[in-house]
Amino acid sequence: MPLFWRVCLINGAVFLLGTLALALSPATVSAQPLLSELVVLLLGLTVIVLLNGALLRTVLRPLDRLTAVTGQIDLRHPGLRLDEDGSGPARPLVRGFNAMLERLELERSTSTARALRAQEAERQRIAQELHDEVGQSLTAVLLGLRHAMDSAPEPVRAELDELRGTTRASLEEVRRIAQRLRPGDLTDLGLISALAGLARATSARNGPRVRRRLPTSVPDLPSATELVIYRVAQEALTNVVRHARAESVDLGLTLSDGRLVLRVVDDGVGIPRGAMGAGIQGMLERARMVGGVLDVRAREDRRGGSGTEVRLSLPLPRRAEP
Ligand SMILES: Nc1ncnc2c1ncn2[C@@H]1O[C@H](COP(=O)(O)OP(=O)(O)OP(=O)(O)O)[C@@H](O)[C@H]1O
Ligand SMILES: [Mg+2]
Repeated sequence: MPLFWRVCLINGAVFLLGTLALALSPATVSAQPLLSELVVLLLGLTVIVLLNGALLRTVLRPLDRLTAVTGQIDLRHPGLRLDEDGSGPARPLVRGFNAMLERLELERSTSTARALRAQEAERQRIAQELHDEVGQSLTAVLLGLRHAMDSAPEPVRAELDELRGTTRASLEEVRRIAQRLRPGDLTDLGLISALAGLARATSARNGPRVRRRLPTSVPDLPSATELVIYRVAQEALTNVVRHARAESVDLGLTLSDGRLVLRVVDDGVGIPRGAMGAGIQGMLERARMVGGVLDVRAREDRRGGSGTEVRLSLPLPRRAEP
């Protein structure tokens, strides 16, 4: 029954009872009310207030909870729902609110998945162009320089040789960027080699020492899952290089209890509480896309050291029954 009619009904019933009591009982209210009459009037008033209070309390309590939850909603951390118990008029509202959250979360995750797929396709395209256009041009320049060196006089030859060195370094850099954009190792050599490649690239160029704890092989995984593991490891290692000031980092992949767990643990300064940028956001969304869970936290070891742990846990695909 709508709240309006409930309040009308309950107040009407109390007034009717009061009126009947006054009309049918010998009780009266004098022009100058006596103390005993005032007590009866006060008792009637108290009954009305208590009944109204009890009614409104049951009706409005879910609304208070709704208001509190509204302030906590953060679609980046989905799963928050209101209890749908109770039978008050707020129940349909709570149910509608939960359904709306469900739709918003679904919409958000599908649009994020779409955006990540578009980003992946764009990276592929840029990597391809870097390889085909810039890479080819630089290779042609290298060949031209080599040719020019053969017929150049001695002082010019030294300069040309220097130019060749610079061009070769640029070509190397272009290949490195293309490799970061499109993890060719992943498709050509598989997940473990691709992760080992990431570890090597991180240690190179004065990065922290990366200790690899990788199995020799993993079960066949869908390519989307492999790409998620690779991208999460890549972002976590990039964050270590950029923010952690770490000396070493462990890159581990383990299989246990039907789950695949990737861990990137550094011994750096530790991530500040609540830190969240596009990088961590992307890791969270990618994990969710393949049914995984990502956890990023500062850690303290027994010797009082600090650091950050990124842990991605994914369900292994179930084997088809023979
Ligand atoms: N391993 C780490 N050690 C210490 N701080 C970290 C570490 N990883 C992340 N952080 C902190 O968390 C913040 C958010 O990281 P996040 O990857 O989301 O964004 P970002 O690296 O700043 O930018 P980008 O969008 O380019 O990744 C960082 O700015 C940094 O302060
Ligand atoms: Mg980052």
